[in-house]
Amino acid sequence: MATKIKRIGILTAGGDSPGLNAAIRGVGKAALGSYGMEIVGFRDGFRGLVENRRIDLDRTALSGILTIGGTILGTSRDKPHRMEIDGRTKDMTGVIKDNLKKWGIDCVVCLGGGGTQKSALRLYRAGINVITLPKTIDNDVAMTDSTFGYATALDIATEAIDRLHSTAHSHHRIIVVEIMGHRAGWLTLGAGLAGGADVVLIPEIAYDVEKIAEAIGQRSKRGSNFSIVAVAEGAMSRDDARVFDSAEKKLERAKSLNEKIEAKHAIAALEVRHQDNTLRLAHQLEELTHLESRVTILGHVQRGGTPSAADRILATRLGTACADLIAREQFGVMVAARGENAVPVPLDQVAGKRKSVPRDHPWVDAARRLGTCLGD
Ligand code: F6P
Repeated sequence: MATKIKRIGILTAGGDSPGLNAAIRGVGKAALGSYGMEIVGFRDGFRGLVENRRIDLDRTALSGILTIGGTILGTSRDKPHRMEIDGRTKDMTGVIKDNLKKWGIDCVVCLGGGGTQKSALRLYRAGINVITLPKTIDNDVAMTDSTFGYATALDIATEAIDRLHSTAHSHHRIIVVEIMGHRAGWLTLGAGLAGGADVVLIPEIAYDVEKIAEAIGQRSKRGSNFSIVAVAEGAMSRDDARVFDSAEKKLERAKSLNEKIEAKHAIAALEVRHQDNTLRLAHQLEELTHLESRVTILGHVQRGGTPSAADRILATRLGTACADLIAREQFGVMVAARGENAVPVPLDQVAGKRKSVPRDHPWVDAARRLGTCLGD
């Protein structure tokens, strides 16, 4: 197929996740092989487009990266419209647009999660040809069945729960294991189900610590003197959830800049307080159940290392489909996974929307049917 697109830029933004290199390879090899396009990598997210941090991605550079974790391009959480430059925050959208024109880049492929989708939409609205792929271990990007990175992180978190089981059992302890996922519970719910956690706490279902203690007490009465509590980093008690909710509503309702800044500061303060939520929860459970408790925070281990087969396949099929959409000049879209297909979804249907776990999701139902405590 003949295409006007000759040179494409590619970048990875937001937190790294397994499968990014598989996706870069998928886009790059299909763009080179099927369409004879040239592909240029930009380092460190959107900053690479401002500071010309480029790497030519020829066949040699694209070879041997499928199994490597992280991103060969490096990443950052820089936003094009609010970037720190020489100690000041600047809107670099115009600079990026001029740079791309100067360098003869016809379109930019942005690999990222929710924040990246928002930034990409802004660039598209500013007149830049943009196309995105959904990556994040959180699996919370809207309009796609899944994101690459999730499957690998799920395997890692599940294996951790498996390992924690034997030590919890041996010491008759409660082990509270904190799992990533930002404000979504996909990773914790998935790993909790796959690993057979006794309690699963996710941000979508606010918990009552007394109910959790009661469930653990029931287990003890049945002779199981240990419990695994899988808690999402974003999970909250009912009281905390109410406070967060009202702070977020204040931000939504804020009219003046001052009101907005004030509301944002209030949320930031709550987020700081929330950072040791898991430790507090373990302490509360120890007091209520009189069982010794320990905390394991899985943290960035969940994002590291080689991608699973499932993530390699997902990243490769979305990446190669992306090259086809570029050739057809279909921009302003995210390449979403839909069943076995890869479909373009307009970025304005994705940006700013989070895919949370529905309270009636089949996984939630399955967990309840097993007798797993969800804290409510
Ligand atoms: O979005 C991926 C993620 O790992 C979240 O699960 C987590 O909340 C966040 O990134 C951590 O960010 P950072 O790597 O900047 O600490």
